[in-house]
Order: sequence, then structure tokens, then C-alpha cells
Amino acid sequence: MSEPLVIVGAGGHGRETAFAFLLGANSVDFLGFLDDRACGTTVEGWPILGQITDAAKHTSACFVVAVNDPRARRSIVARLGALGVARWGSVIHPEVRLHNSAQLGVGCSVLGGCQLTTNIRIGDHSILNRGAQVSHDCAVGDFCSLNPSATVAGNVSIASGTELGSGCTIRQGITIGAGATIGMGAVVVKDVPDNAVLIGNPARVLRSNSPWLTQ
Ligand SMILES: CC(C)(COP(=O)(O)OP(=O)(O)OC[C@H]1O[C@@H](n2cnc3c(N)ncnc32)[C@H](O)[C@@H]1OP(=O)(O)O)[C@@H](O)C(=O)NCCC(=O)NCCS
Repeated sequence: MSEPLVIVGAGGHGRETAFAFLLGANSVDFLGFLDDRACGTTVEGWPILGQITDAAKHTSACFVVAVNDPRARRSIVARLGALGVARWGSVIHPEVRLHNSAQLGVGCSVLGGCQLTTNIRIGDHSILNRGAQVSHDCAVGDFCSLNPSATVAGNVSIASGTELGSGCTIRQGITIGAGATIGMGAVVVKDVPDNAVLIGNPARVLRSNSPWLTQ
């Protein structure tokens, strides 16, 4: 990306995203964090630029929202859009290799150790956390979070707003509905309805999330 980067969210995922970005960029290319809850002017030596409402001051920057919860992330993206933010950058750890056929949306972060193979589509504002694996012919929607070491087999379709917990495994050919959450370590062997929360091996429904409304 040519514009300097602002990361929205100075929590754990935000700082991991800064770390991944700076492994492949110069420090001048990272302006700092916006975070409504941060106090002080730096975190781990990186600048805190202010709150989300300060986004409009950074007219030459591009933005990535590094907040893991899909619903919170969508809400922040909407707030930034209302403030006039329209430039989104994607952060890709420098050791991650994307096949030419991969399509990655805007505002994504792909952290170290991720593996994406052929014919993969990832929507806008999605997070692939450390060590997540996405196999051939998969489609991942907007605002999805694949937590560390989530493993997705081939021909899987994951609708928007879905979170895959750390270390879960998704069988080949599965469809996961919008707004679903898959628990840590779950093994998903059947299609998943919209907004369902699943745990266990084989995965079963624990409860439902609030609806993931299409905007
Ligand atoms: C599945 C999940 C969303 C459920 O969260 P929750 O609705 O707050 O559920 P609770 O923690 O109240 O647990 C409810 C029950 O499910 C069990 N449970 C929760 N998560 C579980 C999991 N991943 N596997 C097996 N059982 C699980 C709890 O032990 C509890 O059982 P009990 O009623 O017999 O005591 C959550 O536990 C999870 O796995 N989230 C993903 C976390 C993750 O990936 N973190 C990495 C961030 S980078």
C-alpha cells in the first residue's frame, strides 16, 4: 500500500497486526493506533493517535480495523465510513504467500503462519489470525475472523460475520451461515445455520448469537 497505515484498535490483535505490518514495512509507514479506550500517547512504543473520531484528521492514511469480534468490527467500520474514511489497507505478514488466484478484500489482516492455497476468496475486513489455514476453492465472507490455527478444508463456504475459534477444523464442502461462531477446537462435520454457536467434536449447537443483519 502506498499510504501510511492507521490501525484502529490498540488491543492484542491490533498490536499483533502492527508487528506483522512492520516486519515488511518501514516504521514511518505506520502512523499509530486509534482507540476509544486507550490512555496515554504510546503503547509498546507505538503512537496512540487518539480516538476513532480523530480518524478524519488523517486524510492521507489508509485504515485497517484490528478488532477481532466481527460485530464490533463491523460497527467500527460503519462509524469510520460515517466520518468519511474510505481508504482501507490490508496487512499481510511478509512471509505469507498468496497464490495468484487468491482474492483478498480491503481492510483485511493476514498474520504470520497463515496458509492459503488456490482459488480462495476472502471478503472485506476479515481477519486471518496466526496459523489459520484455508484450503483450495474456499470462499470467506466479509467481517469474518479465523482465530489462530483454525483449519478450513477445501470447498468450504463461510458467510459474513463468522468467527472460527482457535484450533477448530471445518470439514471439506461445508457451508457456514452468517454470524456463526465455532468454538475453540470444534470439529465441524455438518452445515452450520446462520448465527449458530457450535462447540465440540463432532460440533453441536450451544446457543445462538444475535442476528447478523445484512446491511
Ligand atoms: C464457543 C464459545 C463462543 C462459547 O462462549 P460462551 O457462549 O461465552 O460460552 P461459555 O464460556 O459460557 O460456556 C458454555 C458451556 O460451553 C462449554 N464450552 C465453551 N467453549 C467451549 C469449547 N470451545 N469447546 C467445548 N466446550 C466449550 C463450557 O465449558 C460451558 O460448559 P458448561 O455449561 O457445561 O459449564 C467460546 O468458548 C469460544 O470457544 N470462543 C472462541 C475463542 C477463541 O477462539 N479465542 C481465540 C481468540 S484470538
